[in-house]
Amino acid sequence: MESNYKRTLVTTALPYANGPVHIGHLAGVYVPADIYARYLRLQGRDVTLVGGSDEHGVPITIKARAEGVTPQDIVDRYHKIIKDSFEELGISFDVYSRTSSDIHRATASEFFSRLHQKGEFIEKTSMQLYDEKANQFLADRYVTGECPHCHNPRAYGDQCEACGTSLNATDLINPKSAITGETPVMKETHHWFLPLDKWESKLRQWILEGHTEWKTNVYGQCKSWLDLGLQPRAVTRDLDWGVPVPLAEAAGKVLYVWFDAPIGYISNTKELYPDTWEKWWKDPETRIINFIGKDNIVFHCIVFPAMLMAYGDNYQLPDNVPANEFLNLEGDKISTSRNWAVWLHEYLRDFPGKQDVLRYVLTANAPETKDNDFTWRDFQTRNNSELVAILGNFVNRVFVLTHKYFEGVVPQAAAFDEIDNRLFDDISGIKESLTANIENFHFREALKDAMNIARAGNKYLQETEPWKVAKTDMERVATILNTSLQVCADIAIAFEPFMPFMSTRLADALHMGKLSWSALGGRELIAAGEKIEVPELLFEKIDDAAIDVQIDRLARIKKENELKNFKPEPIQQPTDFDTFSKIDIRIGTVLQCEKVKKSKKLLRFTIDDGLSKRTILSGIAEHYQPEELIGRQVCFVANFPPRQMMGIESEGMILSALNADGSLSVIAPSTPVVNGAQVK
Ligand code: 2FM
Ligand code: ZN
Repeated sequence: MESNYKRTLVTTALPYANGPVHIGHLAGVYVPADIYARYLRLQGRDVTLVGGSDEHGVPITIKARAEGVTPQDIVDRYHKIIKDSFEELGISFDVYSRTSSDIHRATASEFFSRLHQKGEFIEKTSMQLYDEKANQFLADRYVTGECPHCHNPRAYGDQCEACGTSLNATDLINPKSAITGETPVMKETHHWFLPLDKWESKLRQWILEGHTEWKTNVYGQCKSWLDLGLQPRAVTRDLDWGVPVPLAEAAGKVLYVWFDAPIGYISNTKELYPDTWEKWWKDPETRIINFIGKDNIVFHCIVFPAMLMAYGDNYQLPDNVPANEFLNLEGDKISTSRNWAVWLHEYLRDFPGKQDVLRYVLTANAPETKDNDFTWRDFQTRNNSELVAILGNFVNRVFVLTHKYFEGVVPQAAAFDEIDNRLFDDISGIKESLTANIENFHFREALKDAMNIARAGNKYLQETEPWKVAKTDMERVATILNTSLQVCADIAIAFEPFMPFMSTRLADALHMGKLSWSALGGRELIAAGEKIEVPELLFEKIDDAAIDVQIDRLARIKKENELKNFKPEPIQQPTDFDTFSKIDIRIGTVLQCEKVKKSKKLLRFTIDDGLSKRTILSGIAEHYQPEELIGRQVCFVANFPPRQMMGIESEGMILSALNADGSLSVIAPSTPVVNGAQVK
C-alpha cells in the first residue's frame, strides 16, 4: 500500500431496509469490507468503516402499502434487524446509521441545492405512466403486462423474464399497475437530470487511464458504460417517500434514491465525526474504498463520482471499488421475493456462537472474480474438515501438550534446530503473501494463506513428535512447544480480520494483549514463563442433523415457489361428449399394492372393480409407498385393452393429477362410493 495516505475511509453499500440481509450481501460486501478494515486497524492505520441502511425508494413504499403500515414503520423494523445482526456477526462499523435521519436529509438536500445553484442540472418534461388509483407515477418495474415479443402475460415494464428482452413499460400490451392492478394512464411530469455526458471525458481519464489496477470486472463494466456514451440521468422522482426536492416548484417530488443513498456515506461520516468529517472526504491524503456488489458498479464508479465532481469543493473520488460478483444458494440465484436465501438473523438464531464459521465459509467461497455457490454441505465440510480438523486441532494439541509437560507455563526455548528455523521462515513467507493478498483485495487467497499457518504448525508437530521426544529430551520438547505456541499466537493475529471471535478467544487464552500485524511471524510473541489458559476447543463439529434442517427448509421453499409459479398447460383442442363417454372410468378399491421388481416406477395393484378383481400397473412408485394405498378407493380407466409391462398384464389405467413439482396424486372420490361406480 502506498504509505502517503494518512487515513482510509472504507464504505459499504447501504442495504435497502425493506428486508433482512442475507449471505449474498455478506459475501459480496460486508465480510470483505470488515476484513479489510480490521486488517488496517491491526496495521495501526487510521481507518473508519462506514455503513447504514438505505431507507428510501419505491419498493419500501410498496411493501408498506401491502402491509397497511407506513414506510417509516417498514424501515424502522428492518433497520433494527439489519443493524443488530451485523453487530452480532462482528462487522466492526464505526458508524451504522440510516438515510431517514435528519442529518442525512439535510446533507442530501444541501447537495442537491448546491448543484442546482451551480447550474449542474438540466430539466425535462416527459410523459410517464401514472396509476390514478394510487396517485403515483409508476417506475417501469411496477408495470406488468403482456410481452410484445413472446406474449408472456406476466412481463415487467423493464424486462420480460420469460424471453429476457429489455422493455420500456410503454411497450407492454395491456399494461397494469403492479400496485393496484389498474390500467395506468400517460401523464406529463417534470424532472431534474444530471448530465453525465458532461463528465464523460473526465470519468474516462480518471478510470480508464488512472485506475487500470481496478478489478477486471469493475474496470470492464466501467469501460463498457463509457464506450456506450453517457446520457443525462433523472435525479428526482414523483413520490411521497424520500428526501423532498428543495425547490418551491418541486412540491410532491423527492430525490431519486440513487441520488441520496451514496450521499449517505457522507452524512454517516458527519454523524460520526461532527467536527472532523471533512478531512475524511476532502483531504487528498484520505483514501476512500467502496465495497459493493456488481449491480452497484455504475452508481459508484460513474454516477456518484460525477455528482462529487459537479459539487466540487475538493470532494475526493474513491481510490478503489472492489466490487464482487454474486453468491448463489444451492445452485440458484438468491432472491428476496422467492425467500431463496440464508438470512443472517436466522443463521445467528440457528447456529448460535458460530459467527466465525459463516465468516470463514463466505470468505473461502467469496464471489471475487465470478459468481459462486453456497451449499450447506460445503459449509459443513469446511467447518468439520478445515476449522475443526486443521486449525482447531493444531491449537488444541499445543495447549494440551503444554499443560501435560509444563503445567500450562510457556517453556523457555533452548537452541533452535533447522526444522524450527524453517517453520519461522515459512511463516514469514506466508505473512508476505497474506499481507499482499489483503492489500489487493484477494481475501480468498489471503484466507488460504492464514490457514497455511495452521497447516505448517500441524506438519511441524507431526515431524518433531514432541510426545516421543518427551521420553528422552525435555529441553528439546520445551523448544518445540515454545515454537508451537508462537505459531498459535500467529494464528490469533492472522485470523483476526477473518474470524475475530476465535482470534479474541485464542489471544485471551494466550494472554497476548493488544494484537498488531507487525508482530505476526515473530519469535517472542508470548514470553517464556507466561501461564496460558486450559485448552478449550475453538471449533466443534457440525452434525448432519443441523444441516438437514437447513436443506429441508430450502426444499420446502423450493416446492412452495414451484406451486406459486405453476402455469397450467393450455387447454387442449375441443372434443365432444361422445368421445368422452366412450372412455369407461370407474371407481375401485385397492386390495393389494406392491412394487414391481426391477422397476423404479411401477406399482402393481389388485383392484376390486365391483365385478371382479383386476390387475393394473401404474407408474407412481416414486410418489407413494404401496402400503399407504391399500384399502383406498381409486379412479381408473376400465376399458383399455390389456397391455404387457415388465412381463405383467395391466388391465386399465389408474388416474392421477400431475402437480407443479412433478409429483403425482391419485384421484379418488371425495366420499366413499360402491366399487364399480362410473365416473360421469
Ligand atoms: O443495491 C442496493 O442494495 C442499494 N441499496 C445500495 C446503495 S449503496 C449506496 F450508494 F448507498
Ligand atoms: Zn417476452
